[in-house]
Order: sequence, then C-alpha cells, then structure tokens
Amino acid sequence: LSSIEVDVSGVEVGTQLTVKWLGKPVFVRRRTPKEIEEARAVAMGDLVDPIARNANLPDDAPATDQDRALDENGEWLVMMGVCTHLGCVPLGNAGDFDGWFCPCHGSHYDTAGRIRKGPAPQNLPVPTASFMSDTVIKLG
Ligand code: FES
Repeated sequence: LSSIEVDVSGVEVGTQLTVKWLGKPVFVRRRTPKEIEEARAVAMGDLVDPIARNANLPDDAPATDQDRALDENGEWLVMMGVCTHLGCVPLGNAGDFDGWFCPCHGSHYDTAGRIRKGPAPQNLPVPTASFMSDTVIKLG
C-alpha cells in the first residue's frame, strides 16, 4: 500500500531524481565512477556515524559504501532527502565531500550520503528499496 515504483530510465549518470514518498523527499542518485570511488576510498574510522542506516540490512550493518548503495556496482544510491539534524532537505552535488550539503546549519554528507561534518548525527537513511527491473526501483 505504501510502496511506489519509480521509473529511473531517464536518470543520467551524475544526476539525481527526487521523488516524494510517504510525504518525504527521496533521492535516487546515479553516481559517477568518481563518486563511487571516492565513497569506497573512505576509511571507516573517518566516519562520524559507522552504521549503514540501511532499512534493507541488519540494524548493525557497517556504513561501508557497499552497504549504502542499492546495487553491487554502487551506481545507484537511494536515500531519504531529510537531514538527520533537524529535517531540512540537503542540496546535491554540494559540500566539502562532493555529496550533499544541508544549508540549514551546515551539515556535509559524502557521496554515499554519510555525515562527515556539521551537526547532523547520522547518515541519511536508506529506505526499503529494490530493483523491479533494470529501470524501475520500488520503494517500500
Ligand atoms: Fe540540516 Fe540542521 S537541519 S544541518
């Protein structure tokens, strides 16, 4: 009932689609090889929040890039577009870590949506999501 299907066939590499789900924005980003590489090169010890925050995985899954991305190659990243500080919508392709920047109080997220700097306490949450086909992602 609360699931929706999102057609991602028009999403170019290096861009993001924002859809509304359960009244909140969800970012569906198709990452560039550079973004994936940057996210995968981060040492776990550098992360503010070491937990994946991925509804598709166990609660204690670590925040590796592999545990954040939707597909094995890491091209697709799906997450709630709601800052974990006080709920503003972060801006894409922005901030000190080339990911998202929340202009409300200055939280910087990396290319895997993990909080790296600023007041937000947690990584942007990854909702229940799966591929229905090559071009359709189901949320919920
Ligand atoms: Fe995003 Fe405060 S709501 S930094």
